[in-house]
Amino acid sequence: MDTIKIMIDGHEVEVAKGTTVLEAARQQGVDIPSLCYLQSINHSSSCRVCVVEVGPRLIASCTLIAEEGMKIQTNTRKVREARKASVELLLSDHNQECLSCSRSGGCELQDVSRTLNIRKVTYTGEKSSQEKDLASPAIVRDASKCILCGRCVGACGTMQTVGAIGFAKRGFDTVISTAFGRPLAESTCVNCGQCIMACPVGALSERENIEEVWNELADPGKYVVVQTAPAVRVALGEEFGLPVGTRVTGKMVAALRRLGFDKVFDANFGADLTIMEEGTELLSRLSSGENLPLMTSCCPGWVKFIEHNFPDRLNNLSTCKSPHEMEGAIVKAFFAGKIGIDPKNIVVVSIMPCTAKKFEGAREELSREGLQDVDWVLTTRELASMIKEAGIDFANLKDEAFDNPIGQGSGAAVIFGATGGVAEAALRTVFEITSGQELATVEYTAVRGMDGIKENVIELPNGRKIRTAVVHGLGNARRLMEAMELGEKSYEFIEVMACPGGCIAGGGQPILNAGASSRIDIKAERAKAIYTEDEAQTVRKSHNNPFIKALYEEFLGEPNGHLAHELLHTHYMARSKV
Ligand code: FES
Repeated sequence: MDTIKIMIDGHEVEVAKGTTVLEAARQQGVDIPSLCYLQSINHSSSCRVCVVEVGPRLIASCTLIAEEGMKIQTNTRKVREARKASVELLLSDHNQECLSCSRSGGCELQDVSRTLNIRKVTYTGEKSSQEKDLASPAIVRDASKCILCGRCVGACGTMQTVGAIGFAKRGFDTVISTAFGRPLAESTCVNCGQCIMACPVGALSERENIEEVWNELADPGKYVVVQTAPAVRVALGEEFGLPVGTRVTGKMVAALRRLGFDKVFDANFGADLTIMEEGTELLSRLSSGENLPLMTSCCPGWVKFIEHNFPDRLNNLSTCKSPHEMEGAIVKAFFAGKIGIDPKNIVVVSIMPCTAKKFEGAREELSREGLQDVDWVLTTRELASMIKEAGIDFANLKDEAFDNPIGQGSGAAVIFGATGGVAEAALRTVFEITSGQELATVEYTAVRGMDGIKENVIELPNGRKIRTAVVHGLGNARRLMEAMELGEKSYEFIEVMACPGGCIAGGGQPILNAGASSRIDIKAERAKAIYTEDEAQTVRKSHNNPFIKALYEEFLGEPNGHLAHELLHTHYMARSKV
């Protein structure tokens, strides 16, 4: 590695060539504050909070590449005053309803103000846009809190290549806007929520449904069932001070019971059901040769991305509903009958790591006889808020188990939470079904890990080869789709998760500020926890889940059969490209 020597605050240090001054200082334990900078996503150097003195000049350290012999001062009066002035100017045009802001306590503007000892808002004057965009079922935009750092624009455009939002207008009138200033709900936004994860303040947040769920729980005429996605259990603990990657499955179940849910089910059961249906669909498409490659459809952000950008590929998407939608349909069509309750009085709440699931939950086609399969979707963050509001001592809860018959999932279902998980779960089942033999090792490590696009060829015992691609992050998905359009790539099976890392880093997960995110590999820690959870299960393949077998025997009949199709499959629609 090529290195250079620089002076930081009078101390000579050696850093890798190409390092920014901000990174170099942080490596030496000098914590320069920053706001607009977000590693690999936004390097606009617009906020000027990270300035340092180099010779006579004040320069933003986040984009300044260190050079041999450079002398940098990070803590002079001039530096401190410049940083303070920049933050005070931001505060002068910032909605200061901090006490009631969803990011209060986790707001980076608040943190930086505290770090810089800002005790009053020095500048007062005209306020810019106060508009709130409440039209989306998934994401709320509050322009009065926006500091125009551009991190959301980088996440949406550069990382996800969705480009639903960008800078518009000039000077004091500058805003972050959709095309033609339409509401987000009428844009190409796929609701992945990566803009929320990138936002340092409360200008972007999920559309909360906490009050609606409290109301359902308080209604004596309602039977309220909850189900939890795999990725929630490896992240929820972070909201209660537990280390990143702590598994809190049992505590989560216990907390949900204390909140008053009548049944606590596991969406992993729905994931196993998805594998039964999607695995069968894959085998049937392989034999007919139609609509290949089969593309997974568990991720609603990816589905909407295809609907907007590649509508001629809609037939490639699996017709399977996503796991929590399947489970919602089963709760209302099967479980309701089992316990003798009118499905109209059953409320299904899904706890998801994802904001796009809110949009998905409201899709008309995911309903039957006027009832949505899923009534409310709460993010991991919203669940944490409810637990805190209820005064539950989460960290000290004793583990409890899910309810049955819809509460047991296999290890294959748990790994749906990480990139590669759906493919691995499907391959475990498809291999055994086609061979009639038990797999010696259930782990398909080739589809694991954080490479943006992972390719693998799986050979089935009948000699059939399945060329597989596993993709996470929509930027990578677009690259793969374009390569396929050009005929450069060809597959039989493609798994896509819209969020980088998969659902473990979904837009509804706990938000760690930019500083913490650069020190801890959040995705790797949460993924590790997901795979440990898989190893801890006695049943690790979807088709071996005894409750899934019973459901087919007792109610559904065959995978991909008539009733399964009616309840568990859906269709998609082409949407506008702008
Ligand atoms: Fe460097 Fe904003 S200019 S963090």
